[in-house]
Amino acid sequence: MELLKMENISKSFSGVEVLHNVSLHIETGEVHALLGENGAGKSTLMNILAGIYTKDGGTIWFNGKEMDHSTIKEIENTGISFVHQELNIFNDLQVYENLFLGKEIKNKFGKLNKKQMIKETRDLMQSLGVDIDPTELAGNLNTSKKQLLEIAKTIYADAKLFIMDEPTTALNNEEIDRLFGIIRKLKTERKTFIFISHKMPEIFEIADTYTVLRNGEFISSGFIQDVTPEEVTKYMVGENYSSSGIYEERKLGETVLEVKDYCGKGFQNVNFKIREGEIIGLTGLQGAGTSELMQTIFGALKAESGQLFVHGREMTGNSIRKAMKNGIAMVAANRKENSILPDMTILENMYVSENVIHNKRQHISRKEEVKKYDKLKGMLNIKANSCDDNITNLSGGNQQKIILARWMNTKADIILFDNPTQGIDVGAKSEIYKLIMKLSKEGKTIFVNTLEIPEIQKIADRCIVFYHGNVQAELEHEKINEETVMLYATNAVYSKERQV
Ligand SMILES: Nc1ncnc2c1ncn2[C@@H]1O[C@H](COP(=O)(O)OP(=O)(O)OP(=O)(O)O)[C@@H](O)[C@H]1O
Ligand SMILES: [Mg+2]
Repeated sequence: MELLKMENISKSFSGVEVLHNVSLHIETGEVHALLGENGAGKSTLMNILAGIYTKDGGTIWFNGKEMDHSTIKEIENTGISFVHQELNIFNDLQVYENLFLGKEIKNKFGKLNKKQMIKETRDLMQSLGVDIDPTELAGNLNTSKKQLLEIAKTIYADAKLFIMDEPTTALNNEEIDRLFGIIRKLKTERKTFIFISHKMPEIFEIADTYTVLRNGEFISSGFIQDVTPEEVTKYMVGENYSSSGIYEERKLGETVLEVKDYCGKGFQNVNFKIREGEIIGLTGLQGAGTSELMQTIFGALKAESGQLFVHGREMTGNSIRKAMKNGIAMVAANRKENSILPDMTILENMYVSENVIHNKRQHISRKEEVKKYDKLKGMLNIKANSCDDNITNLSGGNQQKIILARWMNTKADIILFDNPTQGIDVGAKSEIYKLIMKLSKEGKTIFVNTLEIPEIQKIADRCIVFYHGNVQAELEHEKINEETVMLYATNAVYSKERQV
């Protein structure tokens, strides 16, 4: 039975058409992957379905009825529940208050029934296998817990159709497995899902059917079992996609960064030397300490003991300002919480870091900044109308590209990338790897922290594998492969190759 039929949907923002006659058909009980490059129109189409944006043209049938000019609330009531790409958690409210916002349980005197709401929250979290205290202030949760709360909120709504727009970006593999378990269970109850993700393995694991959009147009639709990841990628990016090798061997320079017995929150006794122009992959299971190590090198977290040398000079009393002055830049994970300045324009978001480093407070040459922006826009294939638009008008992946541009725009010679391709489509991922390779050829030293080992395999000269805050192995480029890395990351073997 057809649950949802969207026909010939069109939408423009300030005269620019971002959806053109797009159709989407969904059967009851299926997991339907909605695929496309950054800016293809996926979130916009879903925002139209949820009543957040009004469509300019086309029709929508849901559960046999035409939906026209319905409000967000009316649409929710017909049984559509939405996990948004960007988190919508109120940090000042407790977990259970977030869950029951607008649907509070009241007793017969109209008073809030706090006890009941806390109990139901606890039961829900338990059934989802999520360790979150209902009375915790949401602001105290880390990003992955916030994402889980967002998912819990959606699932709590007793809906027919669940829209999940990149629900797994902050989750670790175990949490993703658990989410997939829940989706499979709900499927047996004839619940239907629209699932958006840029991670191909996820799509091929969980989806039954797919629709691909490109540049706001419908491209193709069908059963997942009838296509390969390569074919789907071709649909997404057009014919000009090539997955050719990116890694090139280069001559490396002198040591530019060294840590000796470095200890901090989440990692201990780390020792390594990195050479000019080198690309280092950092990996481990979620929570292995690699992200904390990067944040400490960047001065966002305090080092506890040990030493950090940059160009042979010890950097004491670490702070972000000091790191930046020493030519260290960092693209932080979880852009919405850590990187985006939501009230500022695209251009301002790009030049803000460069400005801090060079102390150019009094005078910013707009002409110069626009020139640099145009160059980076071309290099990173950023899809944006005007650089004076608010950054939040961009699609999620294009916001991420602006954050990459922010740091490429500084003259930093050591760049720390924490999960840089979060929410980035497959085509643009290759562009970013190529760019990283190019930067390294220009002599920049680069760290990439990621859980995606194929990313490391494509670009890194060396891979440092962590387990519980300790360096478990250092693998040279030709030894980097998924199986070897996982052996060390899970502590299945203790490395003999470890260099201390
Ligand atoms: N509120 C808005 N105002 C102006 N333009 C917008 C707005 N929302 C989206 N757009 C534009 O519409 C296009 C489609 O964006 P959308 O967010 O739907 O992409 P997406 O497919 O979800 O991409 P991603 O994978 O990066 O999240 C983009 O070019 C984006 O800049
Ligand atoms: Mg999107």
